[in-house]
Amino acid sequence: MNEKNASIFGLGILEGTSAFVTGGGTGIGFGIAKTLGALGANVTIASRRQEVLDKACAELSEAGVRALGIVCDVRDHGSVKRAVDQSVEKFGGLDILVNNAAGNFACPTEDLSPNGWRTVVDIDLNGTFNCCHAAFPHLSKSPHVGRIVSIITAYAWGGWPGCAPAAAAKAGIQSLMRTLAIEWAPKNIISNTVAPGPIADTEGTKRIHEDTDRAAAELARVPVGRFGEVEEIAAAVAYLVSPAARYVNGTDLVVDGGRQFKATPRPDAK
Ligand code: HXC
Repeated sequence: MNEKNASIFGLGILEGTSAFVTGGGTGIGFGIAKTLGALGANVTIASRRQEVLDKACAELSEAGVRALGIVCDVRDHGSVKRAVDQSVEKFGGLDILVNNAAGNFACPTEDLSPNGWRTVVDIDLNGTFNCCHAAFPHLSKSPHVGRIVSIITAYAWGGWPGCAPAAAAKAGIQSLMRTLAIEWAPKNIISNTVAPGPIADTEGTKRIHEDTDRAAAELARVPVGRFGEVEEIAAAVAYLVSPAARYVNGTDLVVDGGRQFKATPRPDAK
């Protein structure tokens, strides 16, 4: 499938660029890393677990991608700065930041502990700020126009019963991207979001829809009649970081089969 993305976009369109993908060792993040690498980018993937990075980097290298894996917790600004600096040292610059790392779990809001709320907001929203902040000096020097793409979700504006912290954090990220789109465009960085719907074979869909026995109900709310594929999210990111999207700034690219137009019902409705 990543070969398909590569042939759709044209091999080499990201040649000479370097990308930093948080949560890039698994799921959607790994799919993004593979696609950007297949299009010619040097790719740094950041994750909390070394074993995840080792496996992902081996697969990327096998596919011919110049890849670097760095252990990093996006909640820790120092850890993020060290990772970004290491990536820049290895590849000579940074052109693309993909804020993909996220934490989430299903829990009725009244049962959520303050620490549960804080943890998700810290990973998703504060983590995105930390990465943007650490990447700024490098992205602003990109000869390709620096790009920030943050992965959010349309549940952020549709309401997300059972996932209040993730919904609020993703809405916060959307707002941050709009602010940076204005504040940093004159400084050579454009900022956008990609908003996936339910994507097959991902930790998010497993936790939120499959483990709660609501996958069939969710599927029924997707007008195109299927869950999305990781590669379809990667393709949207590839477009936004490509030369074709240099005038696209501050927008949300929703890739959800039309799911956003169906409200999520109360948690007790199956
Ligand atoms: C209630 C929970 C909980 C659960 C954790 N907590 N899981 N509360 N229900 N299922 C509470 C804990 O009790 C604790 O609060 C607090 O959250 C922090 O938990 P820790 O386990 O100590 O945190 P940590 O080890 O940092 O792990 C973070 C995490 C974890 C978010 C809780 O699940 C994680 O690392 N997830 C990363 C992977 C992930 O979530 N992927 C899915 C993203 S998908 P107390 O008060 O007890 O101390 C996504 C899009 C989904 O975002 C799209 C769907 C279609």
